[in-house]
Amino acid sequence: MFNLFRTATPILLGIDISPASVKLLELKKTNNSYRVESFGVAPLPPNTIIEKVVKDPRALARTVQQLIAKVKPTAKNAAIAIPDSMVITKVIQLDASLNEMDIENQIAIEAEKYIPYPLQEINLDFSVLGPSNKDKQQIDVLLAAARTENIMATVEALTEADLTVKVVDVQAYTMERASHLLKPQLPNYGQNKIVAIVDLGAHTTQLTILDNFKTVYSREEPFGGQQLTENIQQRYGLTASEAGLAKKQGGLPDDYQTAILHPFRETIILQLRRALQFFFSASQYNEVHAIVLAGGSAKVMGLAKLIEEQLGIPTTVANPLAEMSLSANIDHTTLLSESCSLLICCGLAMRSFNHG
Ligand SMILES: Nc1ncnc2c1ncn2[C@@H]1O[C@H](COP(=O)(O)OP(=O)(O)OP(=O)(O)O)[C@@H](O)[C@H]1O
Ligand SMILES: [Mg+2]
Repeated sequence: MFNLFRTATPILLGIDISPASVKLLELKKTNNSYRVESFGVAPLPPNTIIEKVVKDPRALARTVQQLIAKVKPTAKNAAIAIPDSMVITKVIQLDASLNEMDIENQIAIEAEKYIPYPLQEINLDFSVLGPSNKDKQQIDVLLAAARTENIMATVEALTEADLTVKVVDVQAYTMERASHLLKPQLPNYGQNKIVAIVDLGAHTTQLTILDNFKTVYSREEPFGGQQLTENIQQRYGLTASEAGLAKKQGGLPDDYQTAILHPFRETIILQLRRALQFFFSASQYNEVHAIVLAGGSAKVMGLAKLIEEQLGIPTTVANPLAEMSLSANIDHTTLLSESCSLLICCGLAMRSFNHG
């Protein structure tokens, strides 16, 4: 078994690997509050990861090595996340009298029924959810399986950078764990319990809907800030890095707002509107009380305000570090400006203290 869920945990570095970048975060917990011990982000060379598959493990290893050399984290163990689409999950019922060992054996047998790959090609894990609603003599057990070949390239690249991958988590679970950090910033927290986290990354948008901090819906769209960068590149004849920089720092011609920025924001709003409608039609829910925008593209100028106005739902930009203290040797300005894109990293680093 691969410990997707359980682990004897030393401090773990949360390492969020996307096709665009590697982000690293190390947390310490004292008296119920967190402290950021180390943090860093490094861009990945193009084509290192294509369609979620690591194509160039050496390039990934080099980037992680350089990041580690720069950030100098204390921990040598890491937690990584894999996209939901790479994981097959299934809730099964088992006899409540089984002990952990029996459950493990039973799981291996049950997995063969549900997982369409040979057992030797998958990493398998489970989490006991509690007594089953269907039958009081049974427990619900969440089974999760991922193909080993989809994980190994990443594990090997991190090993080359002298890290040991101790935990492989699923992005949706990581997001749910990190969502607890957002409580203080939620409008009317306590009354408004259905919250949508919209993670606008470089290439993907992940919509996670939580009911009282339990995930009830999670969906990924292949759309992100990279689209805005490409639009800027095309219109003004810039390179990718020039366009990426201009998007953050400004200095583009006067027509940027009307020709590029407004249409991009409108596209996001349209997609979000559709995604929410899809969620309502696919579930028993018909409202969302608050939206939290996350991911680097949450910083697109005026986006949160526009979503709030057009969708009529209170919207804030995620700051999972709001209640954390920061170690002195960290570049505070960079960390705080990146905090909206650190939910996955936080959720991973929190695995050091929280086994669920
Ligand atoms: N100030 C800013 N204004 C607009 N866009 C920004 C700003 N800062 C970062 N971005 C954009 O945010 C995106 C990166 O966000 P993030 O780090 O969340 O993505 P990622 O996790 O690497 O990718 P993904 O989650 O899509 O796999 C890039 O497209 C970047 O250009
Ligand atoms: Mg991301």
